[in-house]
Amino acid sequence: MIDLHGRRALVTGGSRGIGAATARLLARAGADVVVGYRSRVADADSVVRELRDMGVKAAALAADVSTPDGAEFLVSSTVNLLGGLDLFVGNSGVWPVKDVSLTEMADAQWSSTIRENVDSIFYTTRAVARVITSGGRIVLISSTAGQRGEAYHADYGASKGAVISFTKSLAVELGARDVTVNSVAPGWVDTEMVAEAMAHAGRAKVDASIPIGRIASAEDIAGPVVFLCSSLARHITGEILNVNGGSVLCG
Ligand SMILES: NC(=O)c1ccc[n+]([C@@H]2O[C@H](COP(=O)([O-])OP(=O)(O)OC[C@H]3O[C@@H](n4cnc5c(N)ncnc54)[C@H](OP(=O)(O)O)[C@@H]3O)[C@@H](O)[C@H]2O)c1
Repeated sequence: MIDLHGRRALVTGGSRGIGAATARLLARAGADVVVGYRSRVADADSVVRELRDMGVKAAALAADVSTPDGAEFLVSSTVNLLGGLDLFVGNSGVWPVKDVSLTEMADAQWSSTIRENVDSIFYTTRAVARVITSGGRIVLISSTAGQRGEAYHADYGASKGAVISFTKSLAVELGARDVTVNSVAPGWVDTEMVAEAMAHAGRAKVDASIPIGRIASAEDIAGPVVFLCSSLARHITGEILNVNGGSVLCG
């Protein structure tokens, strides 16, 4: 039912985790996909091989999207490679693993998290907004932390809260061009980002903290992202779609 043939997509952070799962599902639905990443060439190339095996056009592009030049390069190169851009998934991000209280948080940690999670979304989405076609879709990945905060990760919570309000602002700005802008808000997702924290906490404890009793897989997040990229979601904009097994409801 979801058919993305003829649609051209860019996924940042597509070399692994949620981004890679999203790139695969977009390709399965027929979209051509550029996979953005920072440094893991082998991982990105392996995702691209899988996408090509599905019969779509695919390429990997290395660019640090936390810099304006990197973001501009990624978006303009995507347009050159695919001939245009219809779907953008702003997914790259970082989560500093260690618990740090606000009083102990270094300036460098704060500015690095804001640069990686907020500046990157600003630079890439600004470049995308200049070129995305009418009928285009933008999906930005936020978090439960952006809604209810995250103690000992105040930098991360603030960065994802910014992504949420950015989403709502742009939904109104781009509505007149028939471009929708939405956010998907995961909770715990079983990716490399949280592997160390999960090993420390214990998987059973993490599972038990989620109302539906299990941590999400990357594919659990990719499905709702692809739905928001599809024509089924054409009347949804400015929405924060919680995909976290209900954990946003629990302290
Ligand atoms: N995992 C969770 O529990 C969870 C929960 C809520 C929200 N999220 C959010 O979901 C998104 C994806 O998370 P994930 O768990 O899939 O992450 P991940 O497995 O750590 O993968 C991160 C991806 O982002 C890329 N990346 C990071 N910084 C970049 C930069 N400056 N420029 C370009 N690419 C960059 C990485 O590229 P390389 O491979 O080249 O390093 C990689 O592809 C993030 O925004 C995260 O905050 C995750």
